[in-house]
Amino acid sequence: MRRTLIPRDKRLPLERLTPYLVSLPEPPQTLDFVAIFGNAHPVELEVGFGKGGFLLQCALHYPQINFVGIEIEKALVLYVATRLAKRGLPNVRLIHGDARRILPSYFADQSLQAVHVYFPDPWWKRRHHKRRLFQQDFVGQCERILCPGGRLLMASDVAEYFEVMKGLVRTHTQLQETTCPEPPADQQWLTNFERKALQQGRSVFRATYVKGDVRLKGTPCR
Ligand SMILES: C[S@@+](CC[C@H](N)C(=O)[O-])C[C@H]1O[C@@H](n2cnc3c(N)ncnc32)[C@H](O)[C@@H]1O
Repeated sequence: MRRTLIPRDKRLPLERLTPYLVSLPEPPQTLDFVAIFGNAHPVELEVGFGKGGFLLQCALHYPQINFVGIEIEKALVLYVATRLAKRGLPNVRLIHGDARRILPSYFADQSLQAVHVYFPDPWWKRRHHKRRLFQQDFVGQCERILCPGGRLLMASDVAEYFEVMKGLVRTHTQLQETTCPEPPADQQWLTNFERKALQQGRSVFRATYVKGDVRLKGTPCR
């Protein structure tokens, strides 16, 4: 099991964080975002938000959009919830768990305006490839939960995995590749892994897909 080291003093007490955390009902039922956010604004999802830089920037710059993040590492969920709580951001909620398990059970059809997946773990060894986030089921779920005109935005600094990701979307969904708006050059918009990749001189690959023909305005690609 992977462990992420985030010092405990970097997070607020749990009672300050609970407003930002979604606890998943058992038995599973689809999440009601209107009830969760208290409004009917469009919703975007980031899977594997890591240290949460992108989510935070989105929440600050797009107050009329609600953001949901799913992250498998609990320490990161608590760390990012702390960042949200310190800023009092009302339009983000975090879910702890494995997105491959959560999407099928908790996300309704056509409930999202965008799905963002940036720098998913490549799991280098061939025998570990089954742990990769991008599988046939995952891209199918992304397509199912996007509304018409919704976008899947993804990036990686691992050329081989990125080709696999693109191949899965091409083969197993009807999402159409579309032009990717230039991401803001501002450093604050970089995800943690993107910053590291650029500092180390590695290329970053990106793609954006749209469901159907309608183009919705929304957050920029990272
Ligand atoms: C390489 S990091 C990238 C983090 C962030 N997106 C960035 O660009 O800095 C991949 C992240 O995805 C998370 N992750 C991996 N598998 C996941 C899964 N099945 N469900 C949710 N999160 C997952 C990891 O814990 C990690 O935080």
